[in-house]
Amino acid sequence: MCGIVGYIGKRNALPIVVEGLKRLEYRGYDSCGVASLFHGELSVEKMAGKVVGLQSLLAKKRDNPIIAIGHTRWATHGIPDKTNAHPHLSQSGEFAIVHNGIIENYRVLKKGLEDNGYVFSSQTDTEVIVALIQTLYKGNLEDAVGNALKHVTGAYGIAVMTKHEPHKIVCARRGAPLVMGIGTDEYFVASDVAAIIQHTKQVIYLDDGELGILTSDGVETLACDRESISKDIQHLTFDVEAIEKSGYEHFMLKEIFQQPQTAFDSMRGRLNVKDGSAHLGGINDHIGSILHADQRYITACGTSWHSALIGEMMIEQFARLPAEVEYASEFRYREPLVDNRSVIFAISQSGETADTLSAIEEGKSRGATTLGIVNVVGSSIARATDAGVYIHAGPEIGVASTKAFTSQVAVMSLLTLKLARLMGMSKKDGIEIVEAMQRVPEQIESVLNQSDVIAEIARTYSKASNFLYLGRGVNFPVALEGALKMKEISYIHAEGYPAAEMKHGPIALIDEKMPIIMIAPKDKTYAKVMGNIEELKARKGRVIAIATEGDKEIAKIADHTIYVPATLAFTAPMVNVIPLQLLAYYIAVEKGCNVDQPRNLAKSVTVE
Ligand code: AGP
Ligand code: GLU
Repeated sequence: MCGIVGYIGKRNALPIVVEGLKRLEYRGYDSCGVASLFHGELSVEKMAGKVVGLQSLLAKKRDNPIIAIGHTRWATHGIPDKTNAHPHLSQSGEFAIVHNGIIENYRVLKKGLEDNGYVFSSQTDTEVIVALIQTLYKGNLEDAVGNALKHVTGAYGIAVMTKHEPHKIVCARRGAPLVMGIGTDEYFVASDVAAIIQHTKQVIYLDDGELGILTSDGVETLACDRESISKDIQHLTFDVEAIEKSGYEHFMLKEIFQQPQTAFDSMRGRLNVKDGSAHLGGINDHIGSILHADQRYITACGTSWHSALIGEMMIEQFARLPAEVEYASEFRYREPLVDNRSVIFAISQSGETADTLSAIEEGKSRGATTLGIVNVVGSSIARATDAGVYIHAGPEIGVASTKAFTSQVAVMSLLTLKLARLMGMSKKDGIEIVEAMQRVPEQIESVLNQSDVIAEIARTYSKASNFLYLGRGVNFPVALEGALKMKEISYIHAEGYPAAEMKHGPIALIDEKMPIIMIAPKDKTYAKVMGNIEELKARKGRVIAIATEGDKEIAKIADHTIYVPATLAFTAPMVNVIPLQLLAYYIAVEKGCNVDQPRNLAKSVTVE
């Protein structure tokens, strides 16, 4: 969610921190601010609204501080106004903090501090941490932070400064991401590497319970007992271009158009054509556990949950192994049947989703093997799981997930193929699937080439108040994903249903104002789906069919037809989702919505 950036070095810290905050804008936020230390005094500038406003505010400042911390907030406690924006100063003005996450016991702590005379100025939960730090400070910031955090329950990534130690930033994490960057005579802290990649590629990821200390001489990591620990420096492999728009109007459009390449990247080196199988090095040692598990769960949220549904269907159909999909947010609270003979897959683009992390922790506490299917390298989920597979989609900046979805499905397909071959799928069938998967990038490309047709349809329906998305089999989760995209970025109510389920209720909604996206490829349910289209047309519904190239019949009854190449059921979701992504995108643009930062949403949801 929200973002943290901190800098200590030799340069003016303010533009570096503000530039970093701008790089985190995509994560969604409502207010922002920065605290800096200059000539021994702490000063804070903050405001409701966008970082560009903060930039003009800071332009008036004459200071050249070499140390600063900044924040973009996604309010959880208290309205998004200037007072509640971070950084927060302690009552004495000696300490400044930025915080991501939620302090669950803040009411009790606040009451205790107030009883001792502390006066709070905001409604945030965050302010109790800086109040505790002020109360516990005895001349050493890391000690005060460490001791303050002993009182706190909840999730946090924090960065703290004090005027008493003007060459030090202390940071700490529990359940919210933090990374320290190592430059030449300069050091960074951030909640996301995107904020610092233009300055350094050498980073240290903090783990839960750890404290980081940044001074002008270097960085140090402390365990929760404050013993110094040595941590590996990781080298980031992507460049700053990967997080820029590269000429596209929006990140979302860039990411939709990247999919031929990103789908390819997810499969690169993992398909075995000769053997009709797949190779997933990251989970090789766990294949036996997967095959022999008593329960196989796939857990995720949002778009990743849709990929999980597709994974479940494929694993059951082709590998003949039972699997169950769980909303990560529900998993933990429903006493799941999990023990040391269970395997839990967690799918996540960001690798930071709090609900998914909690589901993993729940599984681990019951002895399960946990495997991550994650995009962001080094993220919390990647590190919390026993092993996993990276999807290699590259940085996804648009809040609405697109390329991560196709890559997640690609990896679920590879996993299915691997398991299916071990469970008795013939080599011949395996080879047919491998060849179909190899065709996916060019098939996606051919759908992207029809973007003009889709933009035209978007213009026709941009005033609609509702959309219905229908599909069968693996195309049902694709319908759900199409509906989610529409809701997220164009704020139009949309629902996904299994096509045949329509007559059991949603058909009551159909009239001439209801556009229906019908995913109707020429597969084994084609005749039935054609029947459904007739039923919709009989009630004056407006049908936009996603149909197999060459299908002339469907064009006679549908109002609009978008053609997709013929695919196997195995590869259909990766291709069929493309027109739905484009349709949502063009409608949102038509309506003038903020495509990359839709209202109320955040890119990674680090609160439960
Ligand atoms: C997707 O468009 C959404 N913004 C959202 O549903 C997202 O998929 C969900 O929050 C899960 O995120 P994750 O994949 O990073 O765990
Ligand atoms: N809970 C804090 C607040 O409401 C931090 C929110 C955030 O993560 O941005 O201010």
